[in-house]
Amino acid sequence: MTRPLRVAFYGAGQVATNTSEVLRGREGVVVLGPFGRDRRDEALRSGADVVVIATTSFLAEIADDVRDAVDSGSNVITTAEEAAYPWANDAATADRLDALARSRGVSILGTGLNPGFAFDALVLTACGAVPEVESLLVERVVDLSGFGATVLRRIGVAHSAESFDEGRRGGTVTGHIGFPQSMRVVGGRLGVEIERIDAELEPLFAERDLEASSLTVRAGETAGFTQRYVAWSDGREWFEARFTGHVAPSEAGEEPRDSITIRGGRGLYLAITPGMNPQSGSASVVANSVRRVVEAQPGWVTVGELPPAVPV
Ligand SMILES: NC(=O)c1ccc[n+]([C@@H]2O[C@H](COP(=O)([O-])OP(=O)(O)OC[C@H]3O[C@@H](n4cnc5c(N)ncnc54)[C@H](OP(=O)(O)O)[C@@H]3O)[C@@H](O)[C@H]2O)c1
Repeated sequence: MTRPLRVAFYGAGQVATNTSEVLRGREGVVVLGPFGRDRRDEALRSGADVVVIATTSFLAEIADDVRDAVDSGSNVITTAEEAAYPWANDAATADRLDALARSRGVSILGTGLNPGFAFDALVLTACGAVPEVESLLVERVVDLSGFGATVLRRIGVAHSAESFDEGRRGGTVTGHIGFPQSMRVVGGRLGVEIERIDAELEPLFAERDLEASSLTVRAGETAGFTQRYVAWSDGREWFEARFTGHVAPSEAGEEPRDSITIRGGRGLYLAITPGMNPQSGSASVVANSVRRVVEAQPGWVTVGELPPAVPV
């Protein structure tokens, strides 16, 4: 009989809870946690086959956690958006942890629905059905009403116009994080060199009070935002990402949807309606990644290098 796969969770929030529930229902998997900050070592020093770190979005804030888990012999999956392609943020830290993982014979993967699927893995899969890729447009409209309050405030919901603007300038209001990482994963796989990435983030205001699951948005506050990222290659727009997040998308004249447009040659248009659910989608991608991260080459890997995530 094969030994069960032990999966430990660090971070006791939404993603860790949802993902651990998915895995608890699977044969051959033993779930440890989710463990909060006060039980850090039970997760990170567990020596589990896989440690899932679902705490923050930022490489700098998870780097020591990744190090400790890898040092204890575990493969790591993290939902930190910057970890989907850590060289975009801090190449020295990425290289250091990559080398540590290689020396321990384990792998590290940053994934979720976005980044990790919608703007990268799925885009690459779609590229398999066209003879050539001239440029890409990926659009996503997301209902944010199921997100936790910390994440909502940080991405830009429930702010006055002034606090949104101030936060955007100071870096505390980020919008959704992960587009440059996805673009670099796709570029890396397609052999496209990205020269620069432009970014825009604009607020969408509520015209009436709106209830989200974790907070209430008052009329006049931000109920969501739009983002547009453009990656340039060879002096032209190569990959455009458009994202609208809103706690009640219909108020902004939108419905959740995903689409991928590949231009060039015969081209391709792939639409998903209604769009992929952010909560169950992320939990599924993470749960469906535990086996592929165990089987991956040692080192820091990206979804562009791995086989598809599948529910096994
Ligand atoms: N790649 C993707 O597709 C994807 C998908 C979903 C989520 N994410 C990201 O994953 C992260 C977790 O999401 P979530 O929805 O689960 O958030 P959440 O519900 O707010 O939960 C976060 C959990 O992590 C803990 N935590 C926060 N900062 C920490 C730190 N520096 N050190 C240790 N623990 C910390 C929190 O503890 P306290 O309550 O004590 O603060 C909480 O238990 C977010 O940054 C989110 O943006 C990415």
